[in-house]
Amino acid sequence: MSKINKSEFKINWDEHAEYWDEYPNAKFYSKKAFSLIATRVSLKNLSVLDYGCGTGLLTEIISKKAKNVAAIDSSPKMIDILKNKKLNNVTSIVGELSPITIGQNSIFNNKFDIIVASSVCAFIPNFIETLSIIKSLLKLNGYFFQLDWHKNQTNPSLGFTESTIRKSYESIGLKIESVSKPFFIVENDKKMEVMYPSV
Ligand SMILES: C[S@@+](CC[C@H](N)C(=O)[O-])C[C@H]1O[C@@H](n2cnc3c(N)ncnc32)[C@H](O)[C@@H]1O
Repeated sequence: MSKINKSEFKINWDEHAEYWDEYPNAKFYSKKAFSLIATRVSLKNLSVLDYGCGTGLLTEIISKKAKNVAAIDSSPKMIDILKNKKLNNVTSIVGELSPITIGQNSIFNNKFDIIVASSVCAFIPNFIETLSIIKSLLKLNGYFFQLDWHKNQTNPSLGFTESTIRKSYESIGLKIESVSKPFFIVENDKKMEVMYPSV
């Protein structure tokens, strides 16, 4: 987030792993994400996929309530930190959410009740493709929670406009009920709104 050069599309996330757990904005973001999820659904007995889990700030909070969590991230260093937390109902995977990764990991043999992508999709090059994979991994009546940066006048370079997010979901047959901006982060004196599409 603030320590990241957002104009660089290709970020080396390994370089951010070491400080991530102590990064106040990341901690704040994860807590907010969890409260949005918890307001909508009880996690008890549910299986969750945390896509782009990072060091597991959100994974850890979810794991205390859910039956189990599969946590996937393309950064080996982020996953190393998560693994060191030794959370007993969390399985971590290094990789992107691609057909290859899914085919190679038996954790994907079963579908998920909930999939979460908290501050991830703005950083991936193939959002619609990934969204389609996410849809295929969700149980019928499962929930997908996406939180992402709102691209607007104060933040013109990173994230999604409301129209882009609506069109992307529609293109794979998901209808968004509402798009809210439930909180914001201040970085380098810039207000960065967080966008939350509700399906
Ligand atoms: C802003 S961080 C958010 C981490 C975590 N969700 C959190 O809130 O603390 C973005 C994360 O997305 C991961 N990421 C970026 N592109 C990815 C991809 N294509 N597949 C999986 N993870 C990815 C990065 O490695 C990084 O850990």
